[in-house]
Amino acid sequence: MLQSQFTTILAALIYSLIFLKFTLASDTLSANQTIRDGQTLVSEGQIFELGFFSPGRSKDRFLGIWYKPTPEIVVWVANRNQPIKDSQGILTISRNGTLVLSRGQRIIWSSNLSSVASSPVMRLLQTGNLVCVDKTNGTSDNYIWQSFDYPCDTRLPGMQIVDNLGDGQDKYLQSWRSSDDPSLGDFTYRIEYRGGVVEIVIYNASIKRCRSGPWTGHYFSNLPFTPTIPFKPNLVINKDMISLSDAFNSSVITRLTLDKSGSLHRYTMDESKNGWNLVHSVPRDSCDNYAQCGPNGICRISKVPICECLKGFAPRSQQDWDLQDWSGGCIRTRPLNCQNGDGFVKVGANFPDMVQFQLNTSMSLNECQSQCSKSCSCTAYATPLVSDGVSGCLMWFGDLIDIREPPGADSNINIYIHLPVSELESINDLDKKKKRPTKLIFILTAVGVLISGLILGGILLKIRLTRQGEERKTEDLELPSFDLATVAAATDNFSSENMIGEGGFGLVYWGSFSDGQGIAVKRLSKTSRQGIEEFKNEVRLIAKLQHRNLVRLLGCCTEGEEMMLIYEYMQNKSLDNFIFDKYKRTILLWPKRFDIIMGIARGLLYLHHDSRLKIIHRDLKTSNILLDEYLNPKISDFGLARIVGGCQNISRTERVIGTYGYMAPEYAFDGKFSVKSDVYSMGVVLLEIVSGKKNRGFRHTYNSDSLLGHAWLLWKEDKALELIDECLKYSFVECQVKRCIHVGLLCVQKYAEDRPVMSSVLFMLGSEEGANLPDPKQPGFFMGGSCNNEETCKVESIANTMTITDLEAR
Ligand SMILES: *[C@@H]1O[C@H](CO)[C@@H](O)[C@H](O)[C@H]1NC(C)=O
Ligand SMILES: *[C@@H]1O[C@H](CO)[C@@H](O)[C@H](O)[C@H]1NC(C)=O
Ligand SMILES: *[C@@H]1O[C@H](CO)[C@@H](O)[C@H](O)[C@H]1NC(C)=O
Ligand SMILES: *[C@@H]1O[C@H](CO)[C@@H](O)[C@H](O)[C@H]1NC(C)=O
Ligand SMILES: *[C@@H]1O[C@H](CO)[C@@H](O)[C@H](O)[C@H]1NC(C)=O
Ligand SMILES: *[C@@H]1O[C@H](CO)[C@@H](O)[C@H](O)[C@H]1NC(C)=O
Ligand SMILES: *[C@@H]1O[C@H](CO)[C@@H](O)[C@H](O)[C@H]1NC(C)=O
Repeated sequence: MLQSQFTTILAALIYSLIFLKFTLASDTLSANQTIRDGQTLVSEGQIFELGFFSPGRSKDRFLGIWYKPTPEIVVWVANRNQPIKDSQGILTISRNGTLVLSRGQRIIWSSNLSSVASSPVMRLLQTGNLVCVDKTNGTSDNYIWQSFDYPCDTRLPGMQIVDNLGDGQDKYLQSWRSSDDPSLGDFTYRIEYRGGVVEIVIYNASIKRCRSGPWTGHYFSNLPFTPTIPFKPNLVINKDMISLSDAFNSSVITRLTLDKSGSLHRYTMDESKNGWNLVHSVPRDSCDNYAQCGPNGICRISKVPICECLKGFAPRSQQDWDLQDWSGGCIRTRPLNCQNGDGFVKVGANFPDMVQFQLNTSMSLNECQSQCSKSCSCTAYATPLVSDGVSGCLMWFGDLIDIREPPGADSNINIYIHLPVSELESINDLDKKKKRPTKLIFILTAVGVLISGLILGGILLKIRLTRQGEERKTEDLELPSFDLATVAAATDNFSSENMIGEGGFGLVYWGSFSDGQGIAVKRLSKTSRQGIEEFKNEVRLIAKLQHRNLVRLLGCCTEGEEMMLIYEYMQNKSLDNFIFDKYKRTILLWPKRFDIIMGIARGLLYLHHDSRLKIIHRDLKTSNILLDEYLNPKISDFGLARIVGGCQNISRTERVIGTYGYMAPEYAFDGKFSVKSDVYSMGVVLLEIVSGKKNRGFRHTYNSDSLLGHAWLLWKEDKALELIDECLKYSFVECQVKRCIHVGLLCVQKYAEDRPVMSSVLFMLGSEEGANLPDPKQPGFFMGGSCNNEETCKVESIANTMTITDLEAR
């Protein structure tokens, strides 16, 4: 056998002197066989070929798979990032089944194995999948390795792209750097799952370039497929992963390729098998570019210019708008009323990006409308569901981003934009004058009529809605009480695996109720009664509070010795885990950070002014800001919070407790606390978010040993922007960053009376560029003495004797 193969190879070698290339006349490679540069494997059906190639004008050699009829179309590359500089590369399959690409003694690339094979064989399948199977294990589908698990820039039928909701690795396409260089380019094509919505997104590095819109059950809403096209996407959703693929059909040769400039193309091979036909491309036109018209702008490809503000909105900067710089987008011309008297205007448009949204499939459209009209931050709603008679409710909060009118007249997807009645009337008048059919929908408009839009229902996993919407209720709520057995069952009997935190109060456990709701349980330790007062305080206080930027207490459990607080679980833990983490910081790009700052400010404003009680948090810090699954911020840990009476503005305490680096000087030294001491902490948090650096422990070579001091010096030298976290350099909005730093410095001023109250903070943060803000005065400091663990280090001072305690508990 070996001998005959040797003869074949010898014959082929002689042949190759003439043709320079030859195949092993097979789709299979067994252990101890090799593929050298010049040799290839060919799949059954003569479609795919595996071997060494040089891309474009490059002389580098890569191991890859291409179409045998059109060798310039490469679909997979093994050593994308490790070119071989000459033709000495060799591919072998080792005895355990590992594919090894080497040159001389050096291993260039090798495959990973999930299991070891006793008699491994490598095969190039007719799908284009290169697989390793164990010959002794009869089942041929049992791959110990397959190239389809490692997509390059091309998705072939049968290949999946995957969003792994668990710990596994996502699978996505990543473009070549150039036609001559298959190494990793900037663009990726991914499937994503968030809050019940599945979407495909093309990214340019970490910035969205184009999105498909939510999956409707049949197609992606922004990119409708006509049913005649045979490659219908096949979406599979289960508990811990979402995958997308097309079924393989040997009579249609097709591929989906993400090109080097970030466009996705679907091709089919023509019948003569000599070339390719382009079926469609994404983006289709400039309106498909992500956020082409900025926030609250709508893109209409048939109009000149293509961008317009949504009804009720006007350009943020008319000058930029006139110059066709739409990136600043649009802002409301009149504020919402929010109580009642608001209405909605219907706009034929694709669904805006799912930045901040809420999905409830059991709500009727009427309920959806009334819910949205009650909330000042709800900007639009739509019905996500269609055919099976269920409506459902999709609501957007904050700016509406990436809206376009669908190309072609056949779409009947609408969104309903939240507007004050005064605005609706003017539109109404205009419409009447123009004798256009009215496009208005007021509150209580009948459900009917709507949408052949979207089915999300079939694809919904557990939909856990975060509480959005401004809740203004503060009436006394009975705090639900859970029995110990329920809490024990939810936390797997307080198993150590479920423990997620530890502090002076006791331990914090993750758990989940039988309906799937995630919870965090703060369990006061039985041995140490320390913190019991804080515990009771927290129950008293937070039970009365409801705001989407405050963490929600679901109930408590006091049985026998046990005292526990049960909170909604915040999937993304605390803000400090992101902004101070080398890798995770890049997830929070500037727009999200700005959202988070605004969210914290709103939460604090609510505590100070909007709830019926006036509450001072006293321990606001980055690690007390928790993030939900959409990275919305929620203030937590009310153990130290105090209610102060209506007219009482400053209170004093003998027992000063707080955290170094966040405490206002008058509080640290004199025990005076007021809303202004919280404002100080807010200022520190704000500057930490902008800079990605901790106030405490901050070191700068020439400058100062606190972040506040550093920020102050940069400010005075008119170099405030240098404070910004490096990883924001592509995403930041200059005027917003400057304003944040400015407001941050106003908040940390030394004298409490100089600091703004939260309503002004919020107003200033949201104000126009160039608005006149007062100049900040020098910040006040209190950094405290030595303390080793900065995260959990708190200071407690009783009658001017400072003691340091660790009261951290979440
Ligand atoms: C591969 O080579 C090793 C040692 O060179 C030998 O022991 C083994 O039997 C060979 N395997 C096959 C399948 O030929
Ligand atoms: C398989 O063999 C290769 C080379 O012989 C070795 O580097 C690799 O660690 C082995 N893998 C496993 C899973 O045993
Ligand atoms: C596979 O190997 C590569 C290095 O060759 C490594 O980076 C990657 O994490 C491995 N993947 C798995 C699933 O083991
Ligand atoms: C063959 O593969 C199956 C599926 O992975 C596995 O359960 C079985 O143990 C394997 N048999 C042998 C002989 O390796
Ligand atoms: C990708 O991002 C870079 C850097 O932000 C930008 O210069 C480039 O124009 C973007 N390319 C596309 C196609 O959007
Ligand atoms: C494969 O594609 C051909 C041509 O479009 C079609 O007629 C046939 O029904 C398809 N087969 C399957 C199994 O989908
Ligand atoms: C969805 O809406 C219905 C009807 O208003 C409500 O009863 C239900 O609690 C909501 N579901 C969630 C998960 O919020």
